[in-house]
Amino acid sequence: MSNKIDELRFDPAAYETKVCTIGERSVTYRAWEGLAYCTDPADPIQRLNLFAPVCLFDGTGAYTPETAPIFMPNTVGGYMPGPADEPRLDPHGSGPNSVFCALEHGYVVASAGVRGRTSGKVTTEFFEGSVGGTVSEATGRKVGRAPAFIVDYKAAIRYLRHNADEIPGCVERIVTNGTSAGGALSSLAGATGNAAEYEPYLAAIGALVERDDVWAASCYCPIHNLENADAAYEWLFCGHDDWHRTKHQRTDDGGFVRVPDEGVMPAEQAALSPQLKALFPAYVNSLGLVADDGGELTMHADGTGNFAKWVAQWVVAAARREFDTRDNERNRAGLMVDGAQIDAQDYLQWKEGDIDGIDWEGFVTKITRMKSTPAFDALDLRSPENEEFGDELVDGRHFTVFSQEHSTVADAELADPAIVRMMNPVPWIDERAADVAPHWRVRHGTFDRDTSLAIPVILATMLANRGFDVDFALPWGLPHSGDYDLPELFEWIDGLCS
Ligand code: DHB
Repeated sequence: MSNKIDELRFDPAAYETKVCTIGERSVTYRAWEGLAYCTDPADPIQRLNLFAPVCLFDGTGAYTPETAPIFMPNTVGGYMPGPADEPRLDPHGSGPNSVFCALEHGYVVASAGVRGRTSGKVTTEFFEGSVGGTVSEATGRKVGRAPAFIVDYKAAIRYLRHNADEIPGCVERIVTNGTSAGGALSSLAGATGNAAEYEPYLAAIGALVERDDVWAASCYCPIHNLENADAAYEWLFCGHDDWHRTKHQRTDDGGFVRVPDEGVMPAEQAALSPQLKALFPAYVNSLGLVADDGGELTMHADGTGNFAKWVAQWVVAAARREFDTRDNERNRAGLMVDGAQIDAQDYLQWKEGDIDGIDWEGFVTKITRMKSTPAFDALDLRSPENEEFGDELVDGRHFTVFSQEHSTVADAELADPAIVRMMNPVPWIDERAADVAPHWRVRHGTFDRDTSLAIPVILATMLANRGFDVDFALPWGLPHSGDYDLPELFEWIDGLCS
C-alpha cells in the first residue's frame, strides 16, 4: 500500500509547456496531465489534469504559485461521466472553455475526470455542462452510480492537498465549478467537506487520507435536491400539462444539434401533478427558511404564501436588473431564450416606468413546462436520475416514496436514503453536518425549466440563513446553461482573494 501511495506524489518538474490559441487569444501554461489521484481506480476516467499559466512563474500575473486560487471545473452533465478537460473551445458556446479562461486569468486549473451513471458503457447522450465526444469506455463495469462522482471529486481534492507543497496554487483557495449535474457536483463539494459518510467509498478507490473541504463553490443551474425536485416542479407547473423541450442529438462529426420535442401529458399522468404539488408545502415549511428581513418563508397548503412571493421576488429582481443594464440582451443574445427580451414580457407589472411586480401565472405560461410528471423520479425508472441511483447490479432505482408507490416497474427498488442524502447538498448545509465552503456563487437562468426555480432559491436561502457567503442571481432570460459570465465569476473569486 505504501508504494502505491508514493505513486501519488506530484513531481513538479514533470510538466510540458503548452500553448493554446483560440482566435486572437492565447495562453501559455505548464501541463501535468493524466495524473492518478487514487491508488485503486475503478474506471480509466479517474485521472487529473493540472495546469498552471506561465505568468505565475515569471512574475507577470496577479498571483504567485503560493497565492493562486485553484479553479476546479468539472465536465459532468446529465449525471454522466465527466472526463478531465484541457484548454479548448467550449463545445456549448462559441468561445474558449472555462479551463482556457481561468488560465488566461492567472489561476491554476485542476480538472479531474469523474465517474458517472453511464461509466462502463458507451452512450450517445449529451447534456449541458458535459464535454461531448465519448465520455466513457466500454469496460462493462457500471461503477459510476451514486455517490461515485462526488467521491472522485473529493479524491482529487485530497490529492491536491496531499501535494500542497509541490503543486502550484493555494489549496486553501480551491474553487469548484460546474453546470447542471456538474453544478450539483460542485454544490456537493461545497456542502459535504470532510463528511465521514463518504469515507468507505473513498477508501474503496484508494483515496488519500486528507481534508476534502473546499473554499468556494460556483454552481450553474445545479440539478440537485432530487428527492424534493418532483414536488417543487409541480408546485411551479401544475395546471400546465403541455411540455416543450429540446433534445440534444449527436451528429456524425462529433457535434450535436438541438431538436424540438413537445407534447401534452395524458390525463392519468396529469392527475399526478396536484398530488406531487401537495407534498411541497410540508417540505418548504420543514426548512425554517427566513427572508433577508427575518420574515418566515412558509407555504400554505395550496402553494401560496411568503415562500412563493420570495421566489417571485428573485425573478422580479432579475427582470429589473436586465431592464436597467440590458446585460443579457447585449452580451448573451445568442444564449437567451427566443422571445425573452425584457421589453416583450407582458406579464411584468410596471409602476412609474419601473418593474414593480409579476403576474406569476403569466410568467409560468411564458417559460412553459419542460418535463412531464414526475420530472425526475420516473415511474418507469427511465430517467437519468433513476439510473444514477442504480448500482453495478440494479440498473435504476426510485428515490422518492411517491414514485416507488406509483411505480410501473414490478419489484422496483427504493434507493438507500443514506445514498440519496450523500447526493443532496441541502441537508448538510441545513444541519451544518460537514465543513461547508464559506463562499458560494449560484446562478440559474429565469427561463431554465430543467428544475423548479424553487430549488436554487432554497439552496441560496439556506446558505444565507446558515451564515454562509452567497452570491445568488437568476440571470434574465437564460436557459439551462453555464459558464456564460466567467469574467464576473473571476471578479468574484479575485474579490474573495483580496
Ligand atoms: C441535467 C439536466 C437535467 O434536466 C437533468 O434532469 C439532469 C441533468 C444536465 O444538464 O446535467
